[in-house]
Amino acid sequence: MANTVVIGMQWGDEGKGKIVDLLCPAFDAVVRFQGGDNAGHTVKFGDRHFALHLVPSGILHEGTRCVLGNGMVINPDALFRELEALAAAGVEAAGRLFVSSRAHVLMPFHAELDRAREAARGRRKIGTTSRGIGPAYEAKASRYGLRVCDLAAAGRSPRLDAAIAKVAAELDGLAAAARPTAPGDPVVEPPAASAPPTAPIDRDAEVARCRDWGERLEPYVRETAYLLNAWIDRGESLLFEGAQGTLLDLDHGTYPYVTSSSASAGGASTGTGVAPGRIDGVLGVLKAYTTRVGGGPFVTELEDETGGFLRERGNEFGTTTGRPRRCGWFDAVVARHSRMINGVGAVALTKLDVLDDLDQVRVCVAYRIDGEERRDLPATVAELERAEPVYRSVPGWGGSTVGTLEFEDLPARARDYVALLEEEVGAPVAIISTGPRREETIVRDGTPLDRLASGRLEEVRRQRNG
Ligand code: IMP
Repeated sequence: MANTVVIGMQWGDEGKGKIVDLLCPAFDAVVRFQGGDNAGHTVKFGDRHFALHLVPSGILHEGTRCVLGNGMVINPDALFRELEALAAAGVEAAGRLFVSSRAHVLMPFHAELDRAREAARGRRKIGTTSRGIGPAYEAKASRYGLRVCDLAAAGRSPRLDAAIAKVAAELDGLAAAARPTAPGDPVVEPPAASAPPTAPIDRDAEVARCRDWGERLEPYVRETAYLLNAWIDRGESLLFEGAQGTLLDLDHGTYPYVTSSSASAGGASTGTGVAPGRIDGVLGVLKAYTTRVGGGPFVTELEDETGGFLRERGNEFGTTTGRPRRCGWFDAVVARHSRMINGVGAVALTKLDVLDDLDQVRVCVAYRIDGEERRDLPATVAELERAEPVYRSVPGWGGSTVGTLEFEDLPARARDYVALLEEEVGAPVAIISTGPRREETIVRDGTPLDRLASGRLEEVRRQRNG
């Protein structure tokens, strides 16, 4: 039985949700290991659409267990909203959803601080999802965060007092004036408008909120590291579902324009308590072009008609925030970086059909920085901003790939495009998504995916076929 990590290889929004949904029949449980309700995908179940941000879409598969691991920051209100929507559609999560007692709790004042900071940053804001993710992880790293296991006794926790004091002081400061900043920080110069004033944080109300959350979460809370390791001991297969993408990883992404968690495959171990040696491989998800939301460098960005075409044709608008996504050509420098960082053994390529009507398709194979050609990803924003893409152009395939089920049935030049990506990225493409629906997917034979899916690819194909 294989334990597999599914990871985004770009800046998030690669279409991981569809791939995880497709692969569910090959796994016994789906495990989130980082992030919070900044993630999101819309899933169709029966005649309803769900916007899920915390609960893995595996919950819609009868018998699949879902785990929110210790590496996450959880906003219980957001979780209860999802559980209520699921219950209204007859999907019962109790007994199948498990929340780590060690996960950190995202408080409303974290979200308030996130918004106030962004307002003060002005033109060079990070473009966060305003969910409070950064402040919640900061509290964790600074050791005054509250964890799920602390909720019942939050009133006696000096950490709650520390958290309130720190956040209140910063909110006051931001409300008074935007801070001057160091050059290179993702903060505007000259200072942006002051953040709007905020109400004081009421300690008693926060304590009551924590107690209420603690009671309502209780049926779901477990020491999930023990649970997951016991499941592995008895031969079950786990799918670790990454949120965001490698280029948003706090360590390996385009810092400081990143999220605050380990969004690459390494996070699957630290964020769950399942040791690296118990994880069998990594499936990387790549979009056939590139998108990003929020600020930060994006070497292959297209601010022209083609960019607009990709946005419209690919419906590139955020699930969590509704923001239009920035669009550009496929960037093999980014994809190679991700292949290395994550140890990607096989790739799921999504949204190939979006490129169908283009006369010419481009792939960035290297960057030119100060006259020098580089195939590695530079560490600094300054270098990335100076980088010019070195493109390989290939002719479009002049035909529809929508709904194609077999690789051999793709137009010849679409197959050539896939082969070019395989060569540039250095990993085989095992899955190709040719439309938003589950049925619109190619699952190729003879790739490492067979092993990663515990030899249960036939079950995956059966589900794809409906
Ligand atoms: P945060 O995670 O809300 O702090 O946002 C930090 C950066 O990550 C911003 O550029 C966000 O747009 C981006 N981001 C966060 N979550 C996602 C996601 O699920 N998909 C794509 N981008 C995301």
